[in-house]
Amino acid sequence: MKIAFFSSKMYDREFFDRYNTRHEIIYFDAPLNEQTVNLAWDCEVICAFVNDKITAAVIAALKASGVRLIALRSAGFNNTDIAAAKACDIPVVRVPAYSPHAVAEHALALILTLNRKTHKAYNRVREGNFSLERLMGFDLFGKTVGVIGTGKIGQIFCTNMLGIGCKVLAFDVIAHKDLEAAGVEYLPLIDIFQQSDIISLHCPLTEQTRHIIDQNSIAMMKQGVMLINTSRGGLVNTPASIEGLKTGRIGYLGLDVYEQEEKLFFNDLSENVIEDDDIMRLLSFPNVLITSHQGFFTQEALAEIAKTTLANIKAFEAGNLLVNRVV
Ligand code: NAI
Repeated sequence: MKIAFFSSKMYDREFFDRYNTRHEIIYFDAPLNEQTVNLAWDCEVICAFVNDKITAAVIAALKASGVRLIALRSAGFNNTDIAAAKACDIPVVRVPAYSPHAVAEHALALILTLNRKTHKAYNRVREGNFSLERLMGFDLFGKTVGVIGTGKIGQIFCTNMLGIGCKVLAFDVIAHKDLEAAGVEYLPLIDIFQQSDIISLHCPLTEQTRHIIDQNSIAMMKQGVMLINTSRGGLVNTPASIEGLKTGRIGYLGLDVYEQEEKLFFNDLSENVIEDDDIMRLLSFPNVLITSHQGFFTQEALAEIAKTTLANIKAFEAGNLLVNRVV
């Protein structure tokens, strides 16, 4: 099949070319949106990633171009107008799990770095500054970690934090029995906000979870709380988080995702003027650590993304059941 592959990077090409044996893949650097959708002309499949905008208008244009399948190479599908795809009778498939370990471990990396300030120590020592001033952290052992969303990633994250000796509280619409048996305590969201020293978000972005972290929830949190978001930017109201940092209510903020990330993340903008004032304000805080949506970025995950996406397309071509179908 002929596949229009949007938002492609060198590492995508490396892994897809390694596992592709049957399809013609046309790689585009451009993201998919209303301005670029015509690039998919004559292709039967489009392959898209997290910051491609698969709106109703884009889906209508894809339909007119002859596209028959939307193959997301991500787990999240909040960037796709699912109702519009259904109305146009274009199936949407995704990669439900490529490496939940990758994201859970990245959340832990953000926690450890923010706490022990290894990013600052690295730069200091390289400049001959061997002082310890302002590098003091705290023991993670014994601290209370609140986990919002205990699906594939959240479960592993809980287990990792239990392994360190943390008390783990969780909130999800469905409690996970194995986690409860392992020592995780499910509580209402308010208790998670009030009791946690560290809060980590692992739920999807939906209408219910958009801005789950806002002025009200931040006001309930412990003074100096550490907030970690490796899930989706829209879970956190950015101006509210800036306010929380200014008052000291948020003592540490680790973000792998950001509400307005699509104009920034995955691109080298080091020679550009960044027009997003919110991210520049966030970057001005000494206790904020931002990575540009790299939670998924391990060798194992990229291999799995390529293999599952190609298997999804193969199943569609063969008329088989689409096991990873969203709609
Ligand atoms: P999953 O679908 O296995 O788990 C999501 C969990 O959230 C489920 O247990 C679900 O019941 C729960 N949930 C749904 N609505 C909720 C609500 N209102 N409140 C609390 N919990 C709620 O998804 P998985 O694989 O664990 O991924 C979680 C999120 O991580 C994805 O939605 C995606 O946004 C993000 N992600 C980030 C990546 C990165 O590179 N930073 C890579 C992959 C995923």
